Amino acid sequence: MALSTPPDQDIVVIGATGDLATRRLLPAFYNLERENLLPQRGNIVGFALNDWTDQDFRVHALKAVSFHSRTGLDERIWDRLSARLRFVAGNGDGLADLRRVLDLDRRLVYLSVPPSSVPTIVQGLGGVDLADGTSLVVEKPFGHDLPSAQQLNHTIHEVFPEERVFRIDHYLGKETVQNLLVFRFANPLFEREWNNDGIHRIEITVAETEGVGRRGRFYEETGALRDIVQNHLFQLLALIAMEAPVRMTPEAIRAEKAKLLAAARPIDPADVIRGQYTAGSIDGSTVAGYREEEGVNPDSATETYTALRMNIDSWRWGGTHFYLRTGKRLARRETRIVIVFRDAPLNFFETTEVKRLVSQKLHIRIQPNEGISLTFVLKEPGPVVTTQKVEMDFSYGESFKLTPPESYERLLHDAMVGDHTLFISEPEVVRGWEVVTPVLEAPPPIVPYTAGSLGPAEANELIAPRLWHALED
Ligand SMILES: NC(=O)c1ccc[n+]([C@@H]2O[C@H](COP(=O)([O-])OP(=O)(O)OC[C@H]3O[C@@H](n4cnc5c(N)ncnc54)[C@H](OP(=O)(O)O)[C@@H]3O)[C@@H](O)[C@H]2O)c1
Repeated sequence: MALSTPPDQDIVVIGATGDLATRRLLPAFYNLERENLLPQRGNIVGFALNDWTDQDFRVHALKAVSFHSRTGLDERIWDRLSARLRFVAGNGDGLADLRRVLDLDRRLVYLSVPPSSVPTIVQGLGGVDLADGTSLVVEKPFGHDLPSAQQLNHTIHEVFPEERVFRIDHYLGKETVQNLLVFRFANPLFEREWNNDGIHRIEITVAETEGVGRRGRFYEETGALRDIVQNHLFQLLALIAMEAPVRMTPEAIRAEKAKLLAAARPIDPADVIRGQYTAGSIDGSTVAGYREEEGVNPDSATETYTALRMNIDSWRWGGTHFYLRTGKRLARRETRIVIVFRDAPLNFFETTEVKRLVSQKLHIRIQPNEGISLTFVLKEPGPVVTTQKVEMDFSYGESFKLTPPESYERLLHDAMVGDHTLFISEPEVVRGWEVVTPVLEAPPPIVPYTAGSLGPAEANELIAPRLWHALED
């Protein structure tokens, strides 16, 4: 079904001069304009604390689009977008000045600001009577721990009702993540095996080759558990393990995700490995260790890697382990879910050359090289019985020959039309924090790993005698 044109509304980006707005949001607006998916009437208003003019903002936006858009610059489309752009400098009367450029009764306000500024801005929007008719998009991280997330929900709800709050996790805007629901619930063959009888374990990996770059100061207060596990990894977990929703509506889908997370057992710190990268080499270039990065404490105990084992206490999943891991400065960039099916009950081949059968696996590649593959064990041609692992592979790029839209395009569109399906609900965010609280309260010691490696060797003990799927697969 084609996406619809959103109803008339203004869009306000608070923090419009920052990194996220520059690299993601402004290019997304440009591509939405290209696809005729912006409202017929409505301005896009940038707001920040400096003294830019409309013209400064347009120059900035043109550079942002030229550098970061997934499609080339078309002047006719740029002219249409440029005509919508306004800037309000927050160094005058602050948020009150926004009123002068907002003509319409409906608006979307996107908070693309440091998390510490969010409560003040939310209260400020209420204070200048901009809450009515406004939907609010809040970026991650949503809180720093359970009490701060609850407090943030409370502050927001004093001004905005939950049905007008859109907590963003840009992973949910990826085509491959949205496809998890279709793959699971349109293909009954897999769904019948999708339980503790059929599945031995599920591994979910978010591996990055990048370090913290210039975000060292921010990362020092965050770490891998808060930055990736509590949001991206838990969202992937919820989608891969949830029950079928009663219908494909935003409410029903979010209720099932929340139910799955409610069944997640709070994580035992003994089931967690926390690592930190030391100097090493990535793609032939020498890179610094985390403690040498700008803005990082030389004695930092912040983790840049987390691997953990967890359980879902439900009828469907009791007895199946879930292994989640994420890290920076790893050998390869990939986000992947690996479903490891239970082994055959008997190995008929143990009297042959084949001593041990490898487990059958389903690999769901979220990025890069988006696709799905299923491994089989087959006999190698020849007189002696030996086996070989072979693969059936589907690749998005080869099958669909389309560049999927950027996550932020889809998510901005959905927020404009008021569709919550791909946004995180309050119960999900609260339960996510509850599940990681034991680890935040008693974090295991940090172990080092070399930049460019597969992570700390200690993570292998979590999954032993099995092995994590190799990042080189
Ligand atoms: N960058 C990313 O790739 C990324 C990815 C996922 C999530 N996020 C989240 O997105 C948010 C923004 O991140 P960012 O990387 O864009 O940060 P950033 O580069 O530091 O930009 C922050 C923006 O907020 C403005 N600002 C700061 N305090 C403000 C206030 N009190 N009132 C109004 N504007 C204010 C800043 O401009 P002035 O100083 O001129 O006001 C700037 O435009 C954060 O919550 C971050 O966690 C970012």
